[in-house]
Amino acid sequence: MTRKKIVCVIGTRPEAVKVAPVILELRRYPEPFDVHVLVTAQHRQMLDQMLAVFGIQPDTDLDIMRPNQTLRDVTCRVLHGMDEYIAAQKPDVVLAQGDTTTVMATSVACFYGHAAFGHIEAGLRTGDCWAPYPEEFNRRVAGLVAKYHFAPTRGSAMNLLREGMNPDAIYVTGNTVVDALRYVLGRTTPPPKPVPAGAPYILMTCHRREIFGHGVREVFQTVRDFAARHPDMFIWYPVHPNPNVQVPAREILGGMSNVLLTGPLDYVEFLHAMNGAYLLLSDSGGVQEEAPALKKPVLVLRDVTERPEGVEAGTCLLVGPHRERIESALERLLADRTLYERMASTPNPYGDGNASRRIAEILSGNGSEWLLRA
Ligand code: UD1
Ligand code: UDP
Repeated sequence: MTRKKIVCVIGTRPEAVKVAPVILELRRYPEPFDVHVLVTAQHRQMLDQMLAVFGIQPDTDLDIMRPNQTLRDVTCRVLHGMDEYIAAQKPDVVLAQGDTTTVMATSVACFYGHAAFGHIEAGLRTGDCWAPYPEEFNRRVAGLVAKYHFAPTRGSAMNLLREGMNPDAIYVTGNTVVDALRYVLGRTTPPPKPVPAGAPYILMTCHRREIFGHGVREVFQTVRDFAARHPDMFIWYPVHPNPNVQVPAREILGGMSNVLLTGPLDYVEFLHAMNGAYLLLSDSGGVQEEAPALKKPVLVLRDVTERPEGVEAGTCLLVGPHRERIESALERLLADRTLYERMASTPNPYGDGNASRRIAEILSGNGSEWLLRA
């Protein structure tokens, strides 16, 4: 029997988290797949840090990251590299996850090279190509090309149906982030933290391109003032290496005794950091999905989200990068235990931890029960 050649493409930190369980599942699935891992390395250090957690070694590394790279730089390098790879390797299926520029350019390379493209985490939409920028554009392009849409929720699958995508190509699998989270928490114990033992802390991330400049500064100034008002509450912020974030973070938040600025954490450290936090303050996509699984409220530093399920469930509250909304939500969550418990105790809408297994079944030709219309 000929083995189906599947290449799993990964560019950035969140893609590594969400594609890793698919790679592990494809490798142990009974039908023999010939699985290749290609990293574009749109991220370098943060990607290597994540792959190490899952013990995954790339077969091909395009090594494209440059300091302070532009969207055009990343698009051109990935398109060129993927185009050559597809022409030379002729994979049966190319898999990529999410909405980064790696994913968009990979899907375009598949389109030009007539390669079948499978989109993991398909169908997320805000309806506005400028928010988040450029991710909404990226995932729409990927959706246009996909032969397999692996939607994480019924809502995201319905978005695709409304856009006129072929219903025979839309599957509801759950989100592979839940698989990754369970894999890691099931195998690890909490590593040491920089926060004093027993002290309460808020865990923060902030890196979205559309709030660079004024938005980032407003968030950091608000956090600085909150930290000054609450000397017993720590803020732990593993800072993204992007200079657009690093520079204002050090300038505005550096030197405060209860604000801990660290480098990016690996997934083991970050999940345990989330688990121990009082609440999360974040503009990350993945964090909005992980928090409900960990029963942690998230104040989302965005005005819109493509992940409405967490907001509807009540775990996530949109506060945008706006001082008044952030301050008011933080103060209420510190003072109002009932509100806190309500946000913390909602069920997780993103799946049961078997999304990767379903994706493997579908790729083997046995997954029709996961079709949206099944
Ligand atoms: C990218 C994705 C975004 C995703 C985020 C996850 C795009 C357009 N953006 O944004 O959707 O949410 O990753 O974190 O695809 N850098 C390093 N080392 C690293 C990673 C980044 O030094 O390991 C620095 C480099 O200077 C790099 C810059 O960060 O040029 C920006 O990286 P880039 O991938 O272009 O954008 P992100 O903001 O990370
Ligand atoms: N994450 C991590 N270390 C960190 C910050 C985030 O491991 O210091 C994980 C987080 O748990 C989630 C993913 O990285 O799974 C989210 O990545 P990011 O916020 O960079 O991207 P997004 O999800 O916004 O695209």
